[in-house]
Amino acid sequence: MNKSSGRALALAVIGTAVSAGAWAQTTVSPPGRLLASNCFQCHGTNGKGPGFERLAGKSASELFSEMKEFQSGKEGDNIMARHVSGFSDAQLRALAQWLSTQR
Ligand code: HEC
Repeated sequence: MNKSSGRALALAVIGTAVSAGAWAQTTVSPPGRLLASNCFQCHGTNGKGPGFERLAGKSASELFSEMKEFQSGKEGDNIMARHVSGFSDAQLRALAQWLSTQR
């Protein structure tokens, strides 16, 4: 490879990296929103219904404690108990925090 084609290749690589970076920045969702996208099939887009109980409009602490109750099995072996069993407390907090911003 001669000097100038090497330089052209280097510029092409930098150009690709820059545009990939810009793409990532515009498409990354907040972590809570990404986790909550799981819930929209049943609770409506952004938790606003239609569907099962509406999640929008609740506080973060209310949502978090409801999810912990499902996780503990106190509410029985239902859909939500199964659904939240895979989430860590940190993930449930992120979910509850993001959902609480929805009105
Ligand atoms: C497969 C459908 C389904 C999915 C997916 C689902 N839910 Fe649910 N959710 C339900 C059903 C059904 C209930 C009612 C359960 C009950 O009260 O016995 C419910 C109830 C709830 C409640 C209690 C609401 C209230 O007012 O009592 C909360 C909070 C909740 N879901 C949060 C979530 C979150 C957060 C997610 C995503 C991580 C999620 N759900 C995903 C079906 C679903």
